[in-house]
Amino acid sequence: MLEKYPAITDLEKKAKSRIPEVAWAYLSSGTGDELAVSRNREAFNQIQYNPTFMHGEQTVDLKTTVLGREYNLPFGIAPVGLSGLMWPGAEMILAQTAKDYNIPYCLSTVATQTPETIGPISQENSWFQLYTPRKKEIRTHLLARAKTSGFNTLIVTADVPYPSRRERTKRAGLRTPPKLTAKFLWGGISNPAWTRQVMKHGLPKLKTVIQYAESKQATKVFEELRKGFGGTLSWDYLKELREEWKGNLIIKGLTHPNDAERAVQIGVDAIIVSNHGGRQFDAVPPSIKLLPLIVDAVGDKTCIMFDSGINSGLDIIKAYQQGAQFVFLGRGFLTGVAALGAQGGNHVCEVLKEDLRANLMQLGIENINDIKNLTPFQPTRHA
Ligand SMILES: Cc1cc2nc3c(=O)[nH]c(=O)nc-3n(C[C@H](O)[C@H](O)[C@H](O)COP(=O)(O)O)c2cc1C
Repeated sequence: MLEKYPAITDLEKKAKSRIPEVAWAYLSSGTGDELAVSRNREAFNQIQYNPTFMHGEQTVDLKTTVLGREYNLPFGIAPVGLSGLMWPGAEMILAQTAKDYNIPYCLSTVATQTPETIGPISQENSWFQLYTPRKKEIRTHLLARAKTSGFNTLIVTADVPYPSRRERTKRAGLRTPPKLTAKFLWGGISNPAWTRQVMKHGLPKLKTVIQYAESKQATKVFEELRKGFGGTLSWDYLKELREEWKGNLIIKGLTHPNDAERAVQIGVDAIIVSNHGGRQFDAVPPSIKLLPLIVDAVGDKTCIMFDSGINSGLDIIKAYQQGAQFVFLGRGFLTGVAALGAQGGNHVCEVLKEDLRANLMQLGIENINDIKNLTPFQPTRHA
C-alpha cells in the first residue's frame, strides 16, 4: 500500500474520486477565498534545513511523552465534526487507529458518533473536544458522559465564536442536517462505495448532542444546537471549566500571545496553536508562523501543541523544530479514511512514520524531541 499511496497527496486524489462532491468540499474547504489554507501550506514550504552527514548508523525514536503519557508517535488525530459525512463509520475507524498506534484520538462534540461508542474503542487514548454548551446543566451532563466513557483529556475550542461561512461547501450543496436533495442523491449514485457505508451506518447525525435539542423537527434541531453550543466562550467560562474538569484541560485555536498568557493564568495544561486549518478566518496568519510567538510568550509555562497545514512527516518535523511539543492532523486522517475506508487511518500513520523516519535520518537526528536544536537555513556566509 505504501508503494501505491506513498503520500497524503495520493490519498487526496483517491478520496476525491470516491466520495460525493459535497463531502469533499466540506473536508477540504477553507473560508472566503481560502487564502488562509494556501498560506498555511506556503509557510511550511518556506522552511528549509541544511543537513550535515556522516553520523554513522542511526536508530530513530518517534516516541514522545506529553501531559504525562507516552505515545508511540509524535502526532494525534484532531477533532473533526461530521466525520461520518466524509466516510460513514470514520470515527470508529480512527478510534481503532488511535488504539493500534498508541496516539490520541480527539472526538468532536459535533462528530457523528457518541463518546459512549468511541471511548471503549480508543480507550486510554480518548480525548474529547468541547463546543461549549450555553446551559450549565448540559455542560455538566456532557462532561460526565465523556468522563465515564473514558475520555481523560478535554479540548476546548476557542476559535469558533460564530460559524464560518465556507462558501465552497455551501456551493457544493451542504445542508444541515444533510438532506436527500437531488445533488446529494446524485453524489450517492456516483459513489457506490460511500453509499454502501451510508446504508450500513445511516445518514450522518450529531449523535452526541441531539439528545439536548428540545425541537423534534430535524431542520430546527440543527439551528437549536448551533445556538446552544457556541458563541459564549469567555475567560470566565474557561475558569468555570477549569474548576469543573479535573483531567487535562487544553485550549485549542489560540493564535495571539496575549490570549496564550491569559489561558496560562487560568491554568490550562496545554495550548493548541491552530488556525483551524484555515477554516474560520481567511485573514489569519499561517499557524506555523504563529507557533514561535506563542512558544516565546508562554512556552516555559505550559505545553504547546500545534495543528493546521500538516500533510507529511517533514511538516511534523518542522512543527517540532518551531517549538511544538505535540501535533495533530485533521484533514490528513479523514482523507485517508475517505480514500481507503477501514485501512485509511492506519495507512496515514504508516505514511507519516516512514516520512518522519526518512527525514530525521537525513538530518542526522535520532529523537524527534532533539529537533529543537536545529536552526532553519538562512542564506548567510559561513563564519
Ligand atoms: C472537516 C473538518 C471539521 C472540523 N471540525 C472540528 C470540530 O468539530 N472541532 C474542532 O475543534 N475542530 C474542528 N476542525 C479543525 C481540526 O480540529 C484541526 O484544527 C484542523 O483540521 C487542522 O488543520 P489540518 O486539517 O490542515 O490538519 C475541523 C476540521 C475539518 C477539516
